Amino acid sequence: MIDINAIRADFPILHQEVHPGKPLVFLDSAASSQKPTQVIEAMNAYYRQTHANVHRGIYALSEAATTAFEAARDKVQHFIHAAHREEIIFTTNTTGSMNLLVQTWGRANLGVGDTVILSQLEHHANLVPWQILAQEKGFTIEYIPITEQYILDLEAYQQMLNAGNVKAVSVAHVSNVLGTISPIAEIAHLAHQAGAIVIGDGAQSVPHMPVDVQALGVDFYAFSSHKMCGPTGIGVLYGKQHLLEAMPPWMGGGDMIRKVTFSGSTWNDLPYKFEAGTPAIAEGIGLGAAIDYLSNLGMNNLHTYEADLTEYAHERLIEVPGLTLYNPEPVMCGGVATFTLEGVHAHDLAQILDYEGVAVRAGHHCAMPLHRECLKVAATTRASFYLYTTRAEIDKLVEALYTAKTLLGGHSL
Ligand code: ALA
Repeated sequence: MIDINAIRADFPILHQEVHPGKPLVFLDSAASSQKPTQVIEAMNAYYRQTHANVHRGIYALSEAATTAFEAARDKVQHFIHAAHREEIIFTTNTTGSMNLLVQTWGRANLGVGDTVILSQLEHHANLVPWQILAQEKGFTIEYIPITEQYILDLEAYQQMLNAGNVKAVSVAHVSNVLGTISPIAEIAHLAHQAGAIVIGDGAQSVPHMPVDVQALGVDFYAFSSHKMCGPTGIGVLYGKQHLLEAMPPWMGGGDMIRKVTFSGSTWNDLPYKFEAGTPAIAEGIGLGAAIDYLSNLGMNNLHTYEADLTEYAHERLIEVPGLTLYNPEPVMCGGVATFTLEGVHAHDLAQILDYEGVAVRAGHHCAMPLHRECLKVAATTRASFYLYTTRAEIDKLVEALYTAKTLLGGHSL
């Protein structure tokens, strides 16, 4: 069970007024979550007592820093049920993970005549890196369409696979805009039958639900610390060991080498082959503390709590006259509500909501093609929920929407 009062007490940032008389109602966790005291203190304690560079020093402090940093890798491994700790590569964030994957696996394996399947609901982080490489290598990108229910059209996907030459399928496990929870295990099974590898963008799933990369059957999986109660600046690329072994490194520098001569270099073992330079040590330790925090609550408990909130939010929002929701039914939707309000621009709306203390995201949410080519709107407003969100905050959002309607009278500012 989730004890919401105890959880909220762990997040100091939530207890403030953002404007006089307007307590913060933070509904933008899909962009970046807030951090509990336990994470903040773990990072502070590291800088106060343990900081030194890792993997290098032959002295006690460096060894302590290395132990703490590598413990975080073990925590990530167990949290997503990876088979081996060597399969956990620390990156900067999901975007960093996708770029690494595309520039190593993609560069080594894709060329003219090959196809990569993405979907129409992808974040730019799972679109643009592929497009950059496709321009150079000449492979084709196809997009699984979304249905009117805002879910992936799996029949169309099967037809794309049947057409042949598909080398990779890369899709968001949970859409950052629509909230759609996609059937990754089924998508992976079908891709493997067609001889393609499968990449999951887990930025919006790992923070919110139990994830077992082996049960999902994915070959690679990417996610960010800062959306799961951890700090910014660190993310993860999970990859099956044999695939990572076969991939060339991407960034060169310290730590990723075994031997360097003036005529050439050889590479370190996994995972270090992909971790050039001093890593984000404090951030890794913070991510480890975030995983401890989430694990103590239980990811199933957290998911159940959020699913209930999401259903409540959708029910309340569709009561608002002129509001259009862009989400699948709650049972297939992560903790978001994405909407437009007739006659009001999303940015104007977000500004009025802010006056009321309600923080939401407005715009294309790094998914411009989805907005323009599928939803046929330039921008939406997104409220996103997490373990510290309350029903009272959703009520406040709805109240603030009525205030916005009264203030704007259906007109943009
Ligand atoms: N990907 C983040 C979002 O959806 C930034 O807001």
